[in-house]
Amino acid sequence: MGHMVITRHDEAVAVLSDPRYVPPPVRRGAAPYTLGWLRERVSRFSSGQVHAERRRTLAERLAAIDPAALRRAARDATVARGGSWEGVPTAVLGAALGASVPVPLVEAVAAGYLSGEESPDADAAVTSLLSLLTGDRLSAGHHTTDHPVTCVLGAGRLSAEDAGQDHGGGDGDVGNGDVGNGDFGDAVAVLTLLLQAHAATEGLIRNALAHASAGNRATGHPGGDHRHQESASGPTDRGVDGLLHETLRHDPPLQVTRRIDRVTGDEVVIDLVAANRDPGVFADPGRFDGSRGPTPHLTFGAGVRPCPGSAHAFALAAGVLDARLGAGADTAGLDAAGIDATRIDAAGIDATGIGGSESMRPGSVRSGSRDR
Ligand code: HEM
Repeated sequence: MGHMVITRHDEAVAVLSDPRYVPPPVRRGAAPYTLGWLRERVSRFSSGQVHAERRRTLAERLAAIDPAALRRAARDATVARGGSWEGVPTAVLGAALGASVPVPLVEAVAAGYLSGEESPDADAAVTSLLSLLTGDRLSAGHHTTDHPVTCVLGAGRLSAEDAGQDHGGGDGDVGNGDVGNGDFGDAVAVLTLLLQAHAATEGLIRNALAHASAGNRATGHPGGDHRHQESASGPTDRGVDGLLHETLRHDPPLQVTRRIDRVTGDEVVIDLVAANRDPGVFADPGRFDGSRGPTPHLTFGAGVRPCPGSAHAFALAAGVLDARLGAGADTAGLDAAGIDATRIDAAGIDATGIGGSESMRPGSVRSGSRDR
């Protein structure tokens, strides 16, 4: 099978817009409530009609969340934590989704969610997250055994059918069967959003902060210290926004995306860094310039399945940067448009991984220690 790397912006857009190219297929038939099971059920790795339906569910959830509220909440939570921002975007998003789960559990799944690399820890974290998100369905008093998955989730009204086993069928799309999400539809949607958001948004913030401290401020001032941040003075501050727009173009947190030609099976690798610096599209493409404003970068994808959370991602990152770089930090309160920053802490940024009873604790989860 062939392998092609795309570096031109117009070619990248063409591939991303052509339904002939689909995401690489996921493994099928994973055990219930594991990472593989989750990956079989998310929008991200499906295609065709199944993808369209799953994506619509996600878009509905996102439409109910005001990015401006996310920005304020992310700023407030970062200020409340003395500038310690890691975990804040995911906690804020979780709170906004009405699904406050421990960030370390999301972290434990995030890498494998994208790469497909499975591990007992990731599987256990998926199980724990599903338990937390479907909590009221679980009957209390069951203790973990050699088979924590069965023990934790099997006690409810779940059946093999709910778990999507042997639904089979498929719609002829590559990497995509018609697995039902059963009673887990909502939990899978929330998990998809948190997992898609987590590493990419933190990567964006990290890259933007690196530019800020390297003196590449959007304002053009050399040096990233506070004396040069006078212009950073409000929630719509150009400095933070310009810094983020240009970081997205110049230093995308996800550097490649892949597709499979469903006709030939060839793999197509889209080099987002190269496309974002295509000299046919961007003047002086190698220069980091925070005054460019929004650009047609491909960091949020394009075509059939662009990131549906791009405005939310931008807002979460901007809120953290508002706090870190001074913009509007003095006006921080604890209640940002209904997202309560005090509850965000309780939502488990520093949590040991799993709240709740011992019966909800699959034996192999150690996310409390992994993120210290
Ligand atoms: C800087 C942060 C982010 C970046 C760079 C990013 C980028 C992307 C890209 C490139 C895709 C498409 C992947 C492909 O075409 O193969 C994608 C998909 C997705 N993103 Fe984001 N994302 C970010 C943050 C977020 C956030 C905060 C959310 C949710 C609030 C989110 C939700 C999603 C979802 C649900 C999908 C799957 C869409 C689908 O299956 O059709 N992302 N993201």
